[in-house]
Amino acid sequence: MVFRVPIRSMATAARQSLKIGMLPADGIGREVLPGAKAAILALGSSIPKTEFIDLLAGFEYFTKTGTALPDETVEILKNECDCALFGAVSSPSRKVTGYSSPIVALRKKMDLYANIRPVKSVSVNPEGKPGVDLVVIRENTECLYVKQETQTVGEHGKEARATRLITERASRRIGELAFKMALERPRKHLTVIHKSNVLSITDGLFRETVRAVPTLPGVDGKYDDVTVAEQLVDSAVYRLFREPEIYDVMVAPNLYGDILSDAAAALVGSLGLVPSVNAGDSFVMGEPVHGSAPDIAGQNIANPLAAIRSAAMMLRHIGYGDGANRIERAVDSVLREGKILTPDLGGKSKTSEVVDEVTKRI
Ligand code: NAI
Ligand code: MG
Repeated sequence: MVFRVPIRSMATAARQSLKIGMLPADGIGREVLPGAKAAILALGSSIPKTEFIDLLAGFEYFTKTGTALPDETVEILKNECDCALFGAVSSPSRKVTGYSSPIVALRKKMDLYANIRPVKSVSVNPEGKPGVDLVVIRENTECLYVKQETQTVGEHGKEARATRLITERASRRIGELAFKMALERPRKHLTVIHKSNVLSITDGLFRETVRAVPTLPGVDGKYDDVTVAEQLVDSAVYRLFREPEIYDVMVAPNLYGDILSDAAAALVGSLGLVPSVNAGDSFVMGEPVHGSAPDIAGQNIANPLAAIRSAAMMLRHIGYGDGANRIERAVDSVLREGKILTPDLGGKSKTSEVVDEVTKRI
C-alpha cells in the first residue's frame, strides 16, 4: 500500500544525514515509536545516516514539570530536525489547569496544516470490511481546536462556550491539497465534508472555499478530472459504514476529520493500522492516528504498524519514496501472511515480535 503525500516536494538536494525528532510522549506512544525507529534503521544505507533526537513532551512530562511541551522541544524540531515522529499523548478528559495538548500545540506552532490519514482494508482481518481505500484529509490548525472556551454563569446556571474558527486561508490550502491528492489517485474523487445546513457561516465558508479551488487563478483546468461530491458529516459516517467503497479522498474541518478517521479505522478493523502525517510546507511529522491507549499500555501488545506506516509516510514526504515503499511492502506482507499479529487483529503476538517480523522483511 503506497501512501502518497503531494503537499509539496520536500525532497531537497541529497542530504548527508537525516535528523529525526522522536516524541514518544505517553502510553503506547512509547511502545510503538521504537518499532518505527527499528523500521527506519532497517533501511540501512539506502537512506542517509540517520540520527534520532529524543524529545520531551506529553501529559506525564507535564505532571512532573508543569509543562507539556517544553520550548526546547519546539526549538530543536524547528532548528535541527528534518522531520519528526510523534507517538501519542494522554490528554485527560477533565480540565487540568495549565495543561494543553502538546500535539495540538505542535501542529499549530509548526504550521502543520494538514493531517493526512489513509485508511485501507486489510485482507487478513475478519473484523474489517473489504473495499475501503480512502484518505481523510483533516484541516489541522483551526475549527474548535483553537481552544477558545469560556464559562460564565447565567440565569440558568453555568454556560460554556467555544469559538469555532474557520478561515478562508486555511480552508483554501487544505482544499488545494485535497484536490492535488485526489488528482494523484486512480479514482480522482473528492468528497467535501461539512455541516453547512446548520453551521451555514463556518462550515459554509469551508465548503465554498474548498469547492472553489478549481476556479482559483492559475489552476487552469488542472482539476478537470477530479469529480467532486459533498456530504453532511453525519450522513457521511452512515454511508462510510454502509458503502465505504464510494469514498476516495475526504476533506473535512478539524473535528469532523478526527471523528471520520477513527470511524474509518474501525472499518478496517483496528486503529493500530492507521497512520498519518501532519504536514506543512516546510516540515512533516508522522503520527499514528490512535491515542495512548491506557487500556493496553505497558503490556507489549499495542499494534506497532500504524507507527511504522507513519514513519514510511514521513520518509516519502521528504523524498525517500524507495525506503517508504520497502517499509510499506514489509508491513503488507506481514499482514497478508497473517501469522504474526497483535491481539487487535486477532493474533497473539507481542508488539516487539511484530516489529522484528517487519524489520526482517525490509
Ligand atoms: P485510543 O486511540 O488511545 O484507543 C482507542 C481504542 O483503540 C482502545 O481500546 C485501544 O486499546 C485501541 N487501540 C488504539 N491504538 C491501538 C494500537 N496501536 N494497537 C491496539 N489497539 C489500539 O483512544 P482513547 O482511548 O479514546 O484515548 C486514550 C488517550 O489517548 C486519551 O487521553 C486521549 O486524549 C488520547 N489521544 C491522543 C491522541 C494523540 O496523541 N494524537 C489521539 C487520540 C486520543
Ligand atoms: Mg483522534
